[in-house]
Amino acid sequence: MTTATAAGAGGPRSFSVEVADGVATLLLDVPGESVNTLSAEVGEELDGHLDRLEQDPAVRALVVASGKREGFLAGARIEAIRAVASAAEAEALSRRAQAIFDRVERFHKPVVAAIHGACLGGGLELAMACHYRILAAEPRTRLGLPEVQLGLIPGAGGTQRLPRLVGIAAALDLILAGKTLPARRAVRLGLADEACPPPLLRAVARERALALARGALRRVRPAGRRASRAEVLQRALLEENPLGRAVLFAQARRRLLAKTRGLYPAPEAALEVVRHGYERGFAEGLAREARRFGELAVSEGSRRLVEVFFAQTALRKDSGVADAAIQPRPVERLGVLGGGLMGSGIASVSVGAGLPVRLRERDDAAAGRALAAVARHLDERVRRRSIDRHERLATLRLLTATTGWEGFAGVDLVIEAVFEDLALKQELLRAFEEVNARGIFATNTSSIPIARIAGAARRPEAVIGMHYFSPVPRMPLLEVIATPRTAPEVIATAVALGKRQGKTVIRVGDGPGFYVNRILGPYMSEAGWLLADGAAIEEVDAALTAFGFPVGPFTLLDEVGIDVGAKVGAILHEGLGDRLESPGILRDLVAAGRLGRKSGRGFYLHGGKARRVDAAVYDLLPGGRRRVHLPRQAIAERLSLAMVNEAARTLQDGIVRSPRDGDVGAIFGIGFPPFRGGPFRLADALGAAAVVEALERLRARHGERFAPAPLLLDQARGGGRFYPDGG
Ligand code: NAI
Repeated sequence: MTTATAAGAGGPRSFSVEVADGVATLLLDVPGESVNTLSAEVGEELDGHLDRLEQDPAVRALVVASGKREGFLAGARIEAIRAVASAAEAEALSRRAQAIFDRVERFHKPVVAAIHGACLGGGLELAMACHYRILAAEPRTRLGLPEVQLGLIPGAGGTQRLPRLVGIAAALDLILAGKTLPARRAVRLGLADEACPPPLLRAVARERALALARGALRRVRPAGRRASRAEVLQRALLEENPLGRAVLFAQARRRLLAKTRGLYPAPEAALEVVRHGYERGFAEGLAREARRFGELAVSEGSRRLVEVFFAQTALRKDSGVADAAIQPRPVERLGVLGGGLMGSGIASVSVGAGLPVRLRERDDAAAGRALAAVARHLDERVRRRSIDRHERLATLRLLTATTGWEGFAGVDLVIEAVFEDLALKQELLRAFEEVNARGIFATNTSSIPIARIAGAARRPEAVIGMHYFSPVPRMPLLEVIATPRTAPEVIATAVALGKRQGKTVIRVGDGPGFYVNRILGPYMSEAGWLLADGAAIEEVDAALTAFGFPVGPFTLLDEVGIDVGAKVGAILHEGLGDRLESPGILRDLVAAGRLGRKSGRGFYLHGGKARRVDAAVYDLLPGGRRRVHLPRQAIAERLSLAMVNEAARTLQDGIVRSPRDGDVGAIFGIGFPPFRGGPFRLADALGAAAVVEALERLRARHGERFAPAPLLLDQARGGGRFYPDGG
């Protein structure tokens, strides 16, 4: 065996090369990083190795593998994309990456990609340029092109190679949604040639490389080999003749626009580029790919999505406390009080993270319902293939339920999710302190100040809020709420636990509605004022979905429960004063028995196939059934600026620590349009002076509730911004 590490000047190298028995293994291990990412430097280094290995007679074949524990190659270095100053610069980056991967594809010795863990974006584009792909058969192996999630398209040949490898329909399915695939499905689809036990990965890859070099193994398109008859037929009918392809692309475009409502240019561009490549050939396809990649890389929408990505990354590293010396306590056992909607969801994500959970309910029947709810959540994961039947059973075994306090002496932290009732919560807090002398008491209250609950505690320093969103297994956000008395170690423990449960965690201050519900308050009450002004329910909802929210405010109220909305609204009004006043519409609807979906009718009629506004609801509203038409733009402005204005106040009040936390909270807690970056980014994009001017205009027309937040006034006067450096 001979070993040759790349020689030459410059800093530490990303690839090491090992030659054994005629096969050179290029091991990618980008120095100083926990995962491999693709940068111009890595590309040039690879190019240099190809130069040498092409000439080396001792080398008959190559294997490309990763030296990182975490995975193969997670994609392009996003910092580099963020740093580009012009579309032309981004296009040139893409062209260069395409050229290097083209060279891999045309390399006259076989190149095998040996893939474990994440193989995403540029990582998969490199792998697709190789002649054979072999995967480590393990759950963390994931392949995909997630670029659209950052408002981009694959820019290193992905839009051209993927459809040629797996067919147009399957490729569009992956690229347009930015989906990733586990190993087994990647092989079935033909994206990879085979999967093998992880410890054998590199050895099998070397064997295959030699077999390819000897001609004992042929480079076949695995999709053709494994496709079912139906798939072969679909390809023949639709994909392999121009007319069929035209139909396929038209259908894909229609479906895409129905989903994105024209708000997300990246998947539309991806579709166009794939199609272009089919109509004009591979080289033309690559040229169009690079051009569109360049344009998108400098677009506002993509910039915002990239910023959100960085904010999330930063939050993953944030312990929740400023002092780096503070360590979270280990949580080895968790308690949950109350196994209703929220408690069962919290138990599910906890056992799902491998934590043993002890759950307490009022009686046996309720305990049984809680266990059944957790089992259903896990069934759903089996259905989505994120776990298998064995894992489901092992996970379910981590949960035990009781109606007493036995088993609670040993929990490190308990999360309370019983009815929203101060006396009940305090009673449980005292009872917990009786049986457990050191555990942390976290409450999932949605509206009671944490300090009031902690008022009953013997150890108020161990009381904290952990505010989850419904449905817990699906909603990504967690608000951790500290009181002035909560110990830093307790904060760090709650934050670490939330991350372990898979949540994006923001630390917020104690106060009415904490952060997310507080900024939602004025938005919702403004929707009520619009109805009082005569607007139509479906027009308000349509204006906000056109703005980019996943659903409009009345659809949201119907889902959450109009009674819940009314209750939260009243609490916010009481706590924050007149600007949170609402016209009382929700109260009237609740009195008339309209609670939303759960009662079959709210603003909409539920139950039938097509959901439609219930005209009878207007009989309960000012103005009756005659509605006035308002422009979408005006509706969206009123609601979005009400939210922006309140967000500015939460920052001033110290409820959120930073605009970053506030933006992440709005996007992941409410569904604020991610391509707008959150309420603080939106204010910066509009400019404080313009925001203040608009608020003053609305104030003159609709009243004092639109009085601009002092922080916005300061910024408008001094030219300030929430993100001063823009980044
Ligand atoms: P729920 O009514 O579905 O569940 C409450 C559960 O607590 C019931 O199963 C009940 O049997 C149990 N319980 C009552 N007294 C108990 C006791 N003494 N010991 C043990 N269990 C007891 O209510 P949900 O929606 O799960 O809400 C729970 C808490 O979470 C409330 O504080 C609520 O404000 C908060 N929350 C609710 C959200 C939502 O969207 N529903 C969102 C965020 C927080």
